[in-house]
Amino acid sequence: MPLVALIGGQWGDEGKGRIVDWMASRAAMVIRYGGGNNAGHTVVNKFGTFKLHLVPSGIFDPTTMNIIGHGVVIDPKVLIEELDMLREHGVDLSRLYISDRAHIIMPYHIIQDRLQERDRGDNKIGTTGRGIGPAYADKMSRIGIRAGDLLDQETLLSRLKPVVEEKNQILTRLYGVKAVPMTETFLAYVRYGVRLMEHITNVHSMVQRELARDSAILLEGAQGALLDVDYGTYPYVTSSPPGAAGAAQGSGVGPSRIRSVMGVFKAYSTRVGEGPFPTELSDEDPNAEVLRQSGTPWAEVGATTGRPRRLGWFDAVMARYSAEVNGIDILAITKLDVLDTLPTIKICIAYRMGDELIDTPPSSVANLVKIEPVYEEMPGWLTPTTGIRDFYRLPMQAQAYLARLCELIGARLGIVSVGPERDHTILVNDVF
Ligand code: GDP
Ligand code: IMO
Ligand code: MG
Repeated sequence: MPLVALIGGQWGDEGKGRIVDWMASRAAMVIRYGGGNNAGHTVVNKFGTFKLHLVPSGIFDPTTMNIIGHGVVIDPKVLIEELDMLREHGVDLSRLYISDRAHIIMPYHIIQDRLQERDRGDNKIGTTGRGIGPAYADKMSRIGIRAGDLLDQETLLSRLKPVVEEKNQILTRLYGVKAVPMTETFLAYVRYGVRLMEHITNVHSMVQRELARDSAILLEGAQGALLDVDYGTYPYVTSSPPGAAGAAQGSGVGPSRIRSVMGVFKAYSTRVGEGPFPTELSDEDPNAEVLRQSGTPWAEVGATTGRPRRLGWFDAVMARYSAEVNGIDILAITKLDVLDTLPTIKICIAYRMGDELIDTPPSSVANLVKIEPVYEEMPGWLTPTTGIRDFYRLPMQAQAYLARLCELIGARLGIVSVGPERDHTILVNDVF
């Protein structure tokens, strides 16, 4: 059963989109299983450079079926814009399917997200402001609107009306802002339904058929394990389970079907938004300037919000924890080339908390901000790696660095990425 869940191992932006784009030609189906347009997955291939927010990164392969699974929350306006953009670039969208069970982001979700952030003041989470948290909250409160509802005006109206009434009480009375107009909202979402109709379907049989055929299926994660609502640095997390358990839940395959969990990790760390980041480097640190890669198309700037990403050394304490809670057994390590010019590279191998050394992250933010990272240093390789396609042609120091990451994380190496383009890839161990 070649079913592989590909998940972000850190705080998102590990290069998941780019790995999925490379792997898609080997897969019959790619299912994006969670998150929404808080995600930004950069793909660079012969069609151009893309920042995908909702469409699975397997869309560029001419034979792969691509599914937006029911674990995703969809802003239909953003999705339609993304589809139009892809069509203009000559990308075939006929194999794109949207689960009719996927929840829909409504205008009041976006307003609520932004007002909640405003009111958090100094304790803000640094959300992407895309309505993600409120949409998942409404799904759990059983007042969500689903993609299938957009295709049936009567159902949409009967589900939407009481929700809009309740939301408008909150918006006008609690926040003192304008109400959301019921009729306009309803009509706009009916129109979105018409635009997306050809893609929205019950994807269950499609997925089961490929499972029965033993086809290679890739489950594409968004966000990262450390943003997980249970395992992440709560409350500085997203509102969904981006890990392996979420992959099963959000795509509609049973957990026993997943053969392998591939963790995508950057060769260093980044984080966008607020929250603890033990190995963070100050902006003035010259190493941070190297990691930022300013002036390049792959500079560390958020693909969705354009915010600068916070930068730091690889945190093996977090990475091992992430591998443990998700059962990561194989790794894709990206952005190795970013380290090419560093004479010395640090890896955090433990945390010091008072007089104690700990090797697992504390569960509370209050304790996480108190720890001091303990570093091990490794020599850099000071050689460009982007042109290399064979692991054994990498400089010895780079091989040693990768081997050390695998040892610390506790998983074998599958893929090394040495540049942003599709073919800047070194295959070490196949997963399918
Ligand atoms: P995702 O959200 O996990 O798909 O990752 P993002 O697309 O948000 O961020 C990854 C960034 O790194 C993008 O700008 C990619 O083009 C770039 N990238 C991915 N892999 C590599 C790599 O191996 N080397 C370099 N230099 N850039 C990479
Ligand atoms: P990809 O798929 C990086 C972060 C936000 C914020 C927190 C909560 O591109 O890796 P939300 O809008 O989800 O309520 O914000 O989560 N975040 C991401 N950071 N990459 C992402 O996605 C992210 N999706 C959410 O910055 O800190
Ligand atoms: Mg991203």
